[in-house]
Amino acid sequence: MNDQLLEQFINLIRQQTGISIRVQDKPYLVRKLISRCRALGYQDPSQYLALLANSYSSNCQQEWQHLADLITTGESYFFRDQGQMTVLRECLLPDLIARHQQDRTLQILSAGCSTGEEAYSLAILLKELLPDATGWQIRVVGYDLSQGAIAKAKAGVYGRWSFRGLDSSLQKRYFQATGQGWEVVPSLREWVRFRCLNLLAPTEYDLLPASVDLIVCRNVFIYFDSGAIQQILQTFISLLRPQGYLLTGHTELQGQEVSPLQVISFPESVVYQLGNGTSGSPVPPTPPLTLQQETQIAFSERNYNNTLALAQQGQRSQPQNEDYLLLMAQIHADQGRYTQAIALSQQILSLNPENITALFLLAHLAEEQQDKIAAKEYLRRIIFLSPNTVAAYVELIELHLSEQEFDPIPSLLATAQMLLQDRSGDEVIPLRQGVTVAMLRHYLAQIAAKAIQ
Ligand SMILES: C[S@@+](CC[C@H](N)C(=O)[O-])C[C@H]1O[C@@H](n2cnc3c(N)ncnc32)[C@H](O)[C@@H]1O
Repeated sequence: MNDQLLEQFINLIRQQTGISIRVQDKPYLVRKLISRCRALGYQDPSQYLALLANSYSSNCQQEWQHLADLITTGESYFFRDQGQMTVLRECLLPDLIARHQQDRTLQILSAGCSTGEEAYSLAILLKELLPDATGWQIRVVGYDLSQGAIAKAKAGVYGRWSFRGLDSSLQKRYFQATGQGWEVVPSLREWVRFRCLNLLAPTEYDLLPASVDLIVCRNVFIYFDSGAIQQILQTFISLLRPQGYLLTGHTELQGQEVSPLQVISFPESVVYQLGNGTSGSPVPPTPPLTLQQETQIAFSERNYNNTLALAQQGQRSQPQNEDYLLLMAQIHADQGRYTQAIALSQQILSLNPENITALFLLAHLAEEQQDKIAAKEYLRRIIFLSPNTVAAYVELIELHLSEQEFDPIPSLLATAQMLLQDRSGDEVIPLRQGVTVAMLRHYLAQIAAKAIQ
């Protein structure tokens, strides 16, 4: 495909979806376009361009659905970004609940919800905060451009990888195991609905102006240029109730004009709030940091584009640095690029065969690709190298349970429980995001009780 034609595709994609194709992603886009042309029987890509540009034909609309699935990155998981989840659980949602004691209605939008994990996470937080929700009308709406992602969100069945940020007691409370994975329980599902929709098309929104209490739009603006961000921001502002909140991915609105939204800074995240007419100010720039600090912060904030660019920059200056390689492997894994994540993890092991975090990541990736035998081998290797790694025993127990292999469980359980003895309940378990010793003790006790039955 020649450069001129490619630029025409890129412009059309930007106009239609807001998504800016980065220079480094152009070769992937070309491959996707060519394979789509082949599937449609077009010899010449300009025929495909003509189909996409003819907005009056119904084929054109259908084709955009296909293309959207190809060009969007829908990686997501439950309770993504523990810091922001804390702000939601401890500040924003309690404030909204307190303000709505009279009308008992709450409406929340997960914009760019991908496969639904974010919307269900918000519903879980609300269920936990409102154990008796009698008389409340709660609605969490998920919008996404990708038809495939919305179909998966509606199905509400998830594999273990989606639960990497959720503690197992919440997983058990709000999901039930099925042959295909873990399915959202009906009481949670009834609060959530999904719709395939382009955030850039305000007329498609089926929410009333000034009717939304909280909009969560994370890891979406990173793909957009400034013009598209401003356009969507105006729509969000019109949807928010007075004093309603907007939560985006960290730094996604840095340097943008956000007025009339006001900026509230929590230690874990910036939040935007619609005031009562007073004007806000552009988000202030952050002070300069070292490359290493910037990379770590961008990663903890899940700003993947930045992290990857920074980590690659750091890797060029320190080519043998395991930390950078690990960071890049984790980002690729989080974005669903498993081949790259595996290659980088293997590269780490060639530098240091005892890197436990890389082995743990490889175990997850193997499991995600349904290779449970390899996953178990990685976990056993971790136990061999570092016999106190309780997370490896727990993962192994879960894997054996999922395969209905009950024989090895009692001894793995006994060791895991022994490793938790004499530890403070608040201590966070390494390699198990946010899970504390107390949570894990409770979880293992439940498994033990079942194993005895
Ligand atoms: C990386 S996912 C983020 C998922 C979730 N918000 C999270 O943080 O885990 C980005 C999502 O934005 C969606 N998206 C991109 N452009 C969009 C648009 N114009 N309208 C609606 N959704 C869009 C993609 O389909 C993708 O599912």
